[in-house]
Amino acid sequence: MTTYRIATIPGDGIGVDVTAEARKVVDAAAGVYGFGVEWVEFDWSCQRYLDSGAMMPGDGIDQLSGFDAILLGAVGFPGVADHVSLWGLLIPVRRAFNQYVNLRPVRLLPGVATALAGRDAADLDMVVVRENSEGEYSAIGGKHNAGGPGEFVVQESVFTRVGVERIIRYAFEVARTRSRRVCSATKSNGLIHSMPYWDAIFAEVAAEYPDVHSEQCHVDALAARMVLNPERLDVVVGSNLFGDILSDLAAAVTGGLGLAPSGNINPHRDAPSMFEAVHGSAPDIAGRGIANPTAQILAAGMMLEHLGETAAAAAVNAAVETVLDKRQAVTPDLGGAATTQAVGSAVAAALA
Ligand code: NAI
Ligand code: MG
Repeated sequence: MTTYRIATIPGDGIGVDVTAEARKVVDAAAGVYGFGVEWVEFDWSCQRYLDSGAMMPGDGIDQLSGFDAILLGAVGFPGVADHVSLWGLLIPVRRAFNQYVNLRPVRLLPGVATALAGRDAADLDMVVVRENSEGEYSAIGGKHNAGGPGEFVVQESVFTRVGVERIIRYAFEVARTRSRRVCSATKSNGLIHSMPYWDAIFAEVAAEYPDVHSEQCHVDALAARMVLNPERLDVVVGSNLFGDILSDLAAAVTGGLGLAPSGNINPHRDAPSMFEAVHGSAPDIAGRGIANPTAQILAAGMMLEHLGETAAAAAVNAAVETVLDKRQAVTPDLGGAATTQAVGSAVAAALA
C-alpha cells in the first residue's frame, strides 16, 4: 500500500476549520481507494508570529522538503500585516519549491446558483493558470526621499524568458487535456515593456501547438468576458497579478470564494506542491463554524490527482457535487444552515 506523507499547515482563521474537513475527506478516500496518508501538522501562522516573531522556523523550508505534498489552509489575521504573513510563509514556500504554476479550476457546481442567471454547469468550466513565481509580485523597488516633498515608491515587475515560457507552455499542455483553447491575459497597451514581451513568447509557444486554439485578450476586456460570455473560455493563462485577480473574479461568478480551489504546482516534481483554497482566513466569520469547506476539500482533491490517485480525486469531486446537488449539507454562504463540520462529514459519507 502506498502511503503519502502530507504536511498540513492549517494557518489562521477558517483555514483551520476547512483543513480539518479536507483531511476528513482525504482519509475517507484513502479508506475506499486503498492508500495510506500520514499527516504531519505544522502550527505556522500569525499566532506563531505573535508568539515567536516568525511565521515559520528558520529551517521551515527544509522541514517541508521531504513531503509528498502540502495542504495549506490560509494565513493572515488582523494584528499581523498582510505582507508579513504572505512573505513570511506562502511566498517563500511557493518559490523555494519552484511551484511556478498556480492552477485554479473554476466550474459551476450542480445545485449552486451563479451570479449569472440562466447559466448552468455546462456553460462555465474553465481553469486559470496563474504565473506564481515572478511578474508583478517582486521585492524589487523601494521608497525614496522618504518623508520629503519628493517622496515616491518604485515597485518593479520581473518577467524572465524562462518564467514566461514555462507557464505558457504549461497552459497549452493543460488545454490538450481539455477543450484545446487557450486565452492569454495581456495589457500590452498599458504595460509597454513587460506585456509585449509576454505576448511575443505566447505567440512563439502557440506556434508549437497548432492543435490548440490560441488568442490573447486585454485583461480588462477578459474580466468582462468572464462574466458575459464564460462559455467562450477554457484555459486562461495570466501573469501573477492578472491571474490572481481573474481567478477571484471567476470564483465569484461561480458562487463565491467558498468553492474555489487552487494548486501551487511544481511540474517537475522535485519538491512538494502545495494545495489550498483561493480564499483567505476570513476573520469576519472565523470561529463560528460556518465557513464553507468545499474549496479546501476540492483543493485536497487536486492534491490526490497530483499524487496519481486519479480515481480517489474523481470520487472527491463527485461526492462534493452530490452533497451540493441534493443540498445535503450547505453552509450559509450558499443559502443553507449547515456547519463546516457537517459539510465535511456529508462529503466523506457520500464518498464512502
Ligand atoms: P477572504 O478570502 O478571507 O474573505 C473574503 C470574504 O469571503 C469574506 O467575507 C469571507 O467571510 C468570505 N469567505 C471566504 N472564504 C469563505 C468560506 N470558505 N466560506 C464562507 N465564506 C467565505 O479574504 P480577505 O478578507 O481579503 O482576507 C482575510 C485574510 O486572509 C487577510 O489576512 C489576507 O491576507 C488573508 N489571505 C490569505 C490567503 C492565503 O493564505 N492564500 C489568500 C487570501 C487572503
Ligand atoms: Mg487572491
